[in-house]
This record gives sequence, C-alpha cells and structure tokens, in this order.
Amino acid sequence: MPGDFKAFEHSGWESVADAYVRAFGALTIQCIRPLLDAVGAGPGVRLLDVATGPGYVAAAAAERGAAATGVDFSAQMVSLAAQRYPNVEFRQGDAEALPWVDSSLDAVTINFGLLHLARPDQAIAEAYRVLHPGGRFAFTVWAKPEETAGFGITLGAIQTHGNMRVPLPEGPPFFRFSDWAESVRSLKTAGFVDPEIKKIEQMWQLPSADALFEIMRTATVRTAGLLENQSPQALRSIRVMMANASRLYERSGVVELPMPAILARAVKP
Ligand SMILES: C[S@@+](CC[C@H](N)C(=O)[O-])C[C@H]1O[C@@H](n2cnc3c(N)ncnc32)[C@H](O)[C@@H]1O
Repeated sequence: MPGDFKAFEHSGWESVADAYVRAFGALTIQCIRPLLDAVGAGPGVRLLDVATGPGYVAAAAAERGAAATGVDFSAQMVSLAAQRYPNVEFRQGDAEALPWVDSSLDAVTINFGLLHLARPDQAIAEAYRVLHPGGRFAFTVWAKPEETAGFGITLGAIQTHGNMRVPLPEGPPFFRFSDWAESVRSLKTAGFVDPEIKKIEQMWQLPSADALFEIMRTATVRTAGLLENQSPQALRSIRVMMANASRLYERSGVVELPMPAILARAVKP
C-alpha cells in the first residue's frame, strides 16, 4: 500500500536527519551544480527544490540569485534546513501534493528524492503542474548498484548472507529511474518534452572500511530497514563482507566509493 510506505519513509526521515547530513552531505552536494545548470537556475528564477532534506540545493540556488524555496515532508529536515540556511525559505509539504498553485514556478529540482516516494509519477505530475510553460524540471537518482559501489556492496552482502524479502512496507523499485529509458518515458508521460539524461560521476569518501555498514544502518531509511530485519548471525556476516569489499577501494587510509548519479531534465511545453 503506498500509504504504508509513505508513513514508513516519513518516520524514518524524521529520525535520521542529522545522521544523513554527516553521512551523505558531502556526496549528494556533488550533483548540485549540474542540477542547477540543467534548470537554468540564476537571478530571478523562481525555483522549488522538492524533497530538499537539509536544503543544499535550495541554498545553492539562492546563492545564484534564484528566488528559491525548499519543501520536504519531514519536520526535522525542514528545521535542519532552516537552521543551516536562515536566509532561504523552507516549508513542510508533500512532493505528491505540492502546496503551490498551478504554473507559478520557473524551475523544479529533486535531488535524490524521487526514489524515496510512494508515488513518484504523482510527484513528476506535480512538478509539471506548478511549472509555467517553458519551465524546467530536473531530478537526480543513484545509478544502478552495478555502478554505485556503496549500494552494490551492501545489496551484494545482503543477498549472499541475508534475506532480501523482509516484512517492510512495499515501495516502488529503488532503482527504477536509474534506467534512462524509464526516466524519459516517465517524463514524457507527465507531459514534459525535450528530455535529456546524463550520468554524473561522484566519489564517496569514507573514513574506514566499516563505515559503509554503519551508515547504511543508521543514516538511511529503506536500506536500514532491510538490515534491521536480518538475523544477528546474518548481520555479522553481512558486516564482515561489506568491510572486506570496502577495503578494496581503500587509498591511503580513505575508502573511495564511486557513486555516480543519473541526472534527468525536461521542459514543460
Ligand atoms: C535522500 S534525502 C535527499 C535530500 C536532499 N535533496 C539532498 O540532496 O541531499 C530524501 C528526502 O526526501 C524527503 N521525502 C521523502 N518523501 C517525501 C515526500 N513524499 N514529500 C516530500 N519530501 C519527501 C525526505 O524527508 C528526505 O529529506
């Protein structure tokens, strides 16, 4: 049920906001420049950053002179974003029912948010609704686990030593929009035109081989739920396998995991 999944995601994000900043902050900001370039964020552009989390994209857009607002359904995230960037407007709201009137914005961005939504197509339709004709929409998602080492290592270890079919509220496939053709199809279905997709290379630096396990357990929602539902014995083996795999990426004491993103952008005709 989409409602169950949304409630699960909501309670998860309410409790991991600070941990998310520490673990993912230096990673997800690597997409900001290409994302803002994709929607032409600049002086006077009315931009809404959906699923803004700690507010990184909205703040960077404001720095470019855009009239930027960030929206997120987590009160914790909104309060964190407002503390970090007191000069930027942040509001609590649902990506699937944006509290904005039709045709009122020039640009909408979603940085690593779409893959957390119960109804991502509804969020794309909402982005379309609030944009005026000629308005630009862009989102990022993780590339597939074969390319994103952090997810490849984690899911590989769970598949080897644990159980992928645990009793969690079922959500849409995490890597659905990593498929370029699927992203294009979804944008066109919502009415967008001129879709363009590209890959953004990103590197995740972690302080130790064990860090990935700790991060996935404490700073994520769906993956943390997957780990929480493993038996203690399976979890120990998963942890060891993740550390051994992470060690292969160690350079001078730092683990460097390739974590490319897919950036999709399109225009409302
Ligand atoms: C992975 S974080 C991305 C945060 C940020 N955009 C970044 O670049 O790091 C996902 C965010 O999506 C938010 N979120 C999930 N479902 C949402 C929904 N239905 N409406 C609004 N925000 C949502 C979460 O609260 C969380 O802050």
